[in-house]
Amino acid sequence: MKALITGITGFAGSHLAEHLLAHQMEVSGTVRKTSSIKHIAHLLPAVRLYECELTNEANVEKMIADVKPDMIFHLAAQSFVPKSWESPLETIYNNIAGQIHLLEAVRKAGINCKLLLACSSEEYGQVETQDIPIKETTPLRPLNPYAVSKITQNYLGYQYFRSYGMHIVCMRTFNHTGPRRGEQFVTSNFARQIVEIERGLKPPILYVGNLEAKRDFTDVRDVVRAYRLAIEKCEPGEVYNIASGSSRAIGEMLQTLVSLSSSTISIQEDPARLRPADVPELIGDYSKFHHRTGWRPEIPFEQTMQDLLSYWRAE
Ligand code: GDD
Repeated sequence: MKALITGITGFAGSHLAEHLLAHQMEVSGTVRKTSSIKHIAHLLPAVRLYECELTNEANVEKMIADVKPDMIFHLAAQSFVPKSWESPLETIYNNIAGQIHLLEAVRKAGINCKLLLACSSEEYGQVETQDIPIKETTPLRPLNPYAVSKITQNYLGYQYFRSYGMHIVCMRTFNHTGPRRGEQFVTSNFARQIVEIERGLKPPILYVGNLEAKRDFTDVRDVVRAYRLAIEKCEPGEVYNIASGSSRAIGEMLQTLVSLSSSTISIQEDPARLRPADVPELIGDYSKFHHRTGWRPEIPFEQTMQDLLSYWRAE
């Protein structure tokens, strides 16, 4: 089976490439001119890379015609929430144009290809207490342009399924982390600051934003396993939550990381890290996906935090 991963050089993409190779799949992926291939260098030449800008329609058509994948995991996106306030149009344009080009290229190529769309728990946004844990039927009340872009990706998937009968599955993935997480995201940002303090590269003050928000964290390695199962077993046209089913305040996550270090660290709020709006609490109900595939998360949170710190200590 030929799998194509958009965003293969990124965090989830690189873990997914490893996972699919271990399951005897042929793996290709798209890279941009500006992408670093650091996270997948160890997988070359087993993985085939295609230089392709998803916002360039001709590039995408050529790439799909060349690769003729049996399945596509569409992960490439502008995925950092604060950046979507700084440049809303860029986020909306990148995430939506890229996906439309991909869907159109597959449709025009007339190939028999399953697609998985990486959507987000951010689509739920402002969730009322009675809606927790969040099911796929919970109303969508987005709080940032990124969330709107993901809702659009999600509904485009539904529309292409209905209009053309394409095999498209949407995952609403809750927060995920682990080794190789980008340093702008909270878990990696804090882990990296801890390691810089341990190395004496910065004073023992760790800067934070909103510590009250609660997030449902799953290990990235459990998430990529879910993606493979989803493309194999899930119903096209449907949306599935991928989550752990419990949440932690960001402050609690920070305490877990700090407890794994022997350095003495003080915490200081940095107003620049606060957001115009922050989703207060996300807890996902993953029972729909569990009933379909048998998946449940396996890696304990403390292990993920330990592995994340080890990753930064080895950098
Ligand atoms: N990034 C960051 N940096 N976040 C901070 C900080 C900080 O210094 N301090 C507190 N936070 C809080 C944020 O306000 C937010 O409530 C939470 O930590 C998580 O922030 P991020 O790690 O940036 O992730 P996110 O929840 O905004 O979005 C992530 O998860 C989504 C799924 O729910 C991203 O991975 C999205 O792409 C993904 O769709």
